[in-house]
Amino acid sequence: MNISGKTKVVGIFGYPIAHSLSPLLHNAAFEKLKMDFVYLPFLIKPPELKRAVQGIKALNLIGINVTVPHKQAIIPFLDELSPEASLIGAVNTVHHCQGKLIGYNTDGAGFIESLSQEGGFDPRGKRVLLLGAGGAASAITFSLVEKKVSELFIANRTFKKAQELVDRLKKTASSSCYLAPLKLGELSGTNLLPKIDLLINATSLGMFPEDPPPLSPHWLLSSLFYYDVVYNRRTQLLKAAADKQIRYLDGQEMLIHQAALSFNIWTNQKAPLRKMRRVIQEKGG
Ligand SMILES: NC(=O)c1ccc[n+]([C@@H]2O[C@H](COP(=O)([O-])OP(=O)(O)OC[C@H]3O[C@@H](n4cnc5c(N)ncnc54)[C@H](OP(=O)(O)O)[C@@H]3O)[C@@H](O)[C@H]2O)c1
Repeated sequence: MNISGKTKVVGIFGYPIAHSLSPLLHNAAFEKLKMDFVYLPFLIKPPELKRAVQGIKALNLIGINVTVPHKQAIIPFLDELSPEASLIGAVNTVHHCQGKLIGYNTDGAGFIESLSQEGGFDPRGKRVLLLGAGGAASAITFSLVEKKVSELFIANRTFKKAQELVDRLKKTASSSCYLAPLKLGELSGTNLLPKIDLLINATSLGMFPEDPPPLSPHWLLSSLFYYDVVYNRRTQLLKAAADKQIRYLDGQEMLIHQAALSFNIWTNQKAPLRKMRRVIQEKGG
């Protein structure tokens, strides 16, 4: 990497940030395409967020990614939001363009693109059960509704959060699908699972080796497609899906595709997906 006076700077704001794979992904992409860009991690404590966002303009950065815990908190400091970011209520990408800071959310679209391009699964008209109601769940469910799934069940440990997400989804103009909140712990008592086409783990369960699965592997039926958004390890459910030869994808694909969409926003160039996938695999994540 040759940094010169002309090198353009992008980066990521988060707290913590040391674990982030985004610098690896983007710098590999810039290197592959011989682009004079560099991607840096910025450790930004919550009380410093406003000043850090002002710094994007002051330092003439091209843009940034935004991760935990700033995805919602950053919104009041931006000049404009894309329709997706506005609907989802969270931003993971900022573009500094013509003096303005524009917020985007590429998590949901990254999920959908990976599902169709890498998984060969078209969500239109499908019945979906999504576990979780946090940030990832929110981005994914708005994109699934936009893609016209027919039924979307959202099961969360804290039922109230599932209910609130369903209420927000119902307000979207394109929401013609059947939406229902559920309590995660009560799923096995229902007869829902045999009817599901796509099962998604969007909880953080599985990030640590001692985590129990959010649902018994018994419920991984051969008729469904399983998507686990956890990207730092193969979760118990993912391993069970592989053992049962069920179609599945892991969170690395969503990570790569959301990064590729951010890359495109900043550079107007198509990201080298294969190169990005290779560096993640080499990292052993
Ligand atoms: N692949 C990607 O590109 C990508 C992008 C974003 C996030 N992610 C991953 O998605 C996962 C969720 O991230 P997030 O940002 O949505 O986090 P978040 O906003 O903190 O939400 C966490 C979710 O997990 C649930 N949960 C946490 N601990 C649980 C437990 N012990 N039992 C049952 N449910 C539990 C929470 O339920 P409650 O509401 O009951 O607390 C909530 O629904 C993480 O693994 C993250 O790394 C992946």
